[in-house]
Amino acid sequence: MTPSRQLPARRSRTAAYATVPVAVAALLGAAGPPATGTTGASGAGDPYFPLSGNGGYDVRHYDLTLRYDTGSHRLDATAELTARATHRLGRFDLDLRGLQVTAVTVDRTPAAFRRDGQELVVTPRRTLREGQEFRVTVAYHGTPEPVTDPDGSADGWIPTDDGAFVAGEPQGAMTWFPANGHPRDKASYDFTITVPEGRTAVANGVLLGRRTAHGLTTFRWRAAQPMAAYLATATIGKFQVERYTTRDGVQVYNAVDPREARAAAPVLRALPSVLEWESKLFGPYPFRAAGSIVDHAPDVGYALETQTRPVYDSAPDLDTLVHESAHQWFGDSVSLTAWKDIWLNEGFATYAEWLYAEQHGGPSAQHTFDALYARPASDGLWAYPPGDPGSGARIFGTPVYARGAMALHALRRAVGDRDFLRILRAWATGHRAGHGTTAEFVRLAERTSGKRLGGLLHTWLYTEGKPDSA
Ligand code: ARG
Ligand code: ZN
Repeated sequence: MTPSRQLPARRSRTAAYATVPVAVAALLGAAGPPATGTTGASGAGDPYFPLSGNGGYDVRHYDLTLRYDTGSHRLDATAELTARATHRLGRFDLDLRGLQVTAVTVDRTPAAFRRDGQELVVTPRRTLREGQEFRVTVAYHGTPEPVTDPDGSADGWIPTDDGAFVAGEPQGAMTWFPANGHPRDKASYDFTITVPEGRTAVANGVLLGRRTAHGLTTFRWRAAQPMAAYLATATIGKFQVERYTTRDGVQVYNAVDPREARAAAPVLRALPSVLEWESKLFGPYPFRAAGSIVDHAPDVGYALETQTRPVYDSAPDLDTLVHESAHQWFGDSVSLTAWKDIWLNEGFATYAEWLYAEQHGGPSAQHTFDALYARPASDGLWAYPPGDPGSGARIFGTPVYARGAMALHALRRAVGDRDFLRILRAWATGHRAGHGTTAEFVRLAERTSGKRLGGLLHTWLYTEGKPDSA
């Protein structure tokens, strides 16, 4: 099938350059060290989202028990986090926005807590030793509300007419569970989600079981491989479910809103072949589970690469399926350490679309590159460089997606197809289930090709305006 060429950044239909309080973000920028004295910092130190994540500990596992009433939109929940203190810790924060917290324990002992904006500040009865493993439980409830991102889009727990569309990039995890909400901290997850009978709750990973009693159905999901909080989902609705196992032994679970089923069917049918094609290029698929959640959520305006199982606000086109699938390698398995590196996610996933088109009877990547390069210097594509877009309002803008992909194409031209593919593969396999930075990527590209590439990549990633030569 020839993918429709729709360029670029159509995943974020909200204005790409909406301008909100960049200055405010900059003022808050001094998130400080991970901990001062025995107080864990209120942020992970990311200037784009200063309060995202926290300092002083590392989460290993989240065990989330959620009960959602699709009629009243009320959530009743308990979160149990297993973490390790990276400092001596008399006090630490979790990210949680809205909702009522009724009790917090640390190692089963009631702990003092208070709310401060999006921070849940926890004071355990006894100071935690550096290196100590500990368990926090938070009991909470209320009506979750999405957060409005700097670009104007809704993010987090987004109610729908039959449940909720749940996607958390970049900061929406805190709208439905207490988290160390920055991709620097990855953990495994268990979900136990109870919804009215007839609704389906779909999270990440594999379905361990479902049980119905007294008009309620409980779904148990497990995401065993490390996952950033923003990639967690617990999307709820009336869904048609399809399950199968691929030739590679990956368990596929598709959940589709019946209103989107006709349009989604031909695209979802391509999932195994898309994953197989991407595995050939990027190395083995990083997870044991896969699938898609196709919701009917007309107000959302984007899809998200929720780990193992992307969530779509409507039936996706093939390009979007290829894009979100490529994120499983680039963004999910290999995670960001700072939001300014977002092109490592979006540029790569966009370039995967170009490669897919090239190898499936569509235009060549060179053709796509040329068409973009032809845009005048005044075009929004050149409004800012993708390597450090400058604020949270710009992370999903055209320069990040399209010029980010152009940077990869320029690299491909410089090193040749063979080395280019070796670089992509080495990136995905070498940083699998971990993190990667732009500097590490540049070093890998240089090491693999034996060429000096710092200048070229600097031009494409970091210089203002339209680069001079293609
Ligand atoms: N990463 C998503 C993609 O596949 C886009 C997420 C947009 N999120 C948002 N809050 N606007 O491109
Ligand atoms: Zn993307």
